[in-house]
Amino acid sequence: MSINVPSNQQSVGTSASPSGTSLHDRFRAARRKNSLSDIRQPKILHPLDNEGLKLLILENISQDAVAAFRAQGWYVDHYTKAFSEDELVEKIGQYHAIGIRSKTKITQRVLEAASKLLVIGCFCIGTNQVDLNAAARAGIPVFNSPFSNSRSVAELVMSELIALSRQLFERSFEMRNGLWNKQSKGCWEIRGKTLGIVGYGHIGSQLSVLAEAFGMKVLFHDVVNIMPLGSARQVESLSALLSQSDFVTLHVPEIPETINMISRDQLAQMKKGSYLINNARGKVVDIPELINALKSKHLAGAAMDVFPAEPGANGDPFDDQLNPWASALCALPNVILTPHIGGSTEEAQKMIGEEVAQALSRYLGYGSTIGAVNFPEVDLRAIPADQGGSIRICHVHRNQPGVLKQVNEALSPYNVEKQYTDSKGAIAYLMADISDISFKDLPHLRDRIVSTDANIITRLLT
Ligand SMILES: NC(=O)c1ccc[n+]([C@@H]2O[C@H](COP(=O)([O-])OP(=O)(O)OC[C@H]3O[C@@H](n4cnc5c(N)ncnc54)[C@H](O)[C@@H]3O)[C@@H](O)[C@H]2O)c1
Repeated sequence: MSINVPSNQQSVGTSASPSGTSLHDRFRAARRKNSLSDIRQPKILHPLDNEGLKLLILENISQDAVAAFRAQGWYVDHYTKAFSEDELVEKIGQYHAIGIRSKTKITQRVLEAASKLLVIGCFCIGTNQVDLNAAARAGIPVFNSPFSNSRSVAELVMSELIALSRQLFERSFEMRNGLWNKQSKGCWEIRGKTLGIVGYGHIGSQLSVLAEAFGMKVLFHDVVNIMPLGSARQVESLSALLSQSDFVTLHVPEIPETINMISRDQLAQMKKGSYLINNARGKVVDIPELINALKSKHLAGAAMDVFPAEPGANGDPFDDQLNPWASALCALPNVILTPHIGGSTEEAQKMIGEEVAQALSRYLGYGSTIGAVNFPEVDLRAIPADQGGSIRICHVHRNQPGVLKQVNEALSPYNVEKQYTDSKGAIAYLMADISDISFKDLPHLRDRIVSTDANIITRLLT
């Protein structure tokens, strides 16, 4: 959202004068003088056809998100359980938006019954529970929150670095079995050691900062060149990283190039006595080869939070039927196994609630699709509040030749202040701000755009 500062706004003087006030006092006074009333505020837009928006919120979604929707004047039905497909088909027709977590499945059948639905919010990381293509075809963007838990994962890795290098789980396990075994052999500080981060994205870069604060040297390898944070250093190859690191931690996505990226050859390149941590995705490590490297004592320990096959629900077994090597891995000393909890913190849940609630509000209120997983990402800077007679058109359409000509013909009698279109596969999305249009022209303009060949959903925000 852009805020324009008027050109007559005075700059803040910083020259010292012999007065009783400090620089901070004068700065604050100057800010008060040029107060917010001088700054152009964005216009609050209202959907022309969707006044009284109704939202269906399911599952255990943050109460703050529900409260934020209600505070905007929207009607919210909140059920803490997931709905079955039949329940959704029966009820979805009355709602303009739905918020779910991972248990509610939004299938093609549900979408066919969703005659008023404008947007779907997945209050979680994954979006597999939604038929994304069918949603896009119906003109419905889907939002999620992929990076709200980056810090939680980075902090878990920090704890694992120390737990592995101090053999913490071994000592604790022995104590619980009545054995006092105080020893320093093979136990290390992490200060001064080298951490090799594979994948320097949201999590890898957070971790880099935390590790340096502990006095570690940080190397990273990524397929793209990234500006290092602090004193971290990017190395040119995975081999270079593996051969120099005391700890190697993986933070890459699961894509064809990363499956089994740590296998026999890569483990052999790691330093003797080093440690491997995987909080990324289970298939990134060849686990039978990791077991061999741990059994031969080439590696001194490992921490695994993710696995090629993971139990479907709490209480389900983690055994050899699920992964044929499970019991061999569980029997090894100095191996930390956790049930995919890297991102599972109260803070991450709260941030997911805030982020997805904001994305839904921005789409319903302003048309922005930034962050949508199945849709072209389009946004326009805000219409200033004092710019009367301006409206915003949000036009979802099929990506086919001739659409823009038809839409621009409909817009030609008016002044198009700004316009942006983008496409993703078969779907395209146009946003345009029109100024100096009279309210009585709106139904006609909307009908002209809705009647264009490729129209899927057209909304006017006024
Ligand atoms: N354990 C958990 O609970 C948990 C929680 C969140 C995320 N994750 C997983 O962590 C991983 C990283 O997440 P993120 O948010 O940091 O992702 P991100 O997209 O921000 O960063 C991934 C980085 O990996 C790099 N990369 C891709 N292919 C590579 C390759 N072959 N070699 C080196 N670098 C490569 C990318 O360029 C990018 O910089 C993902 O697999 C994600 O699913 C796990």
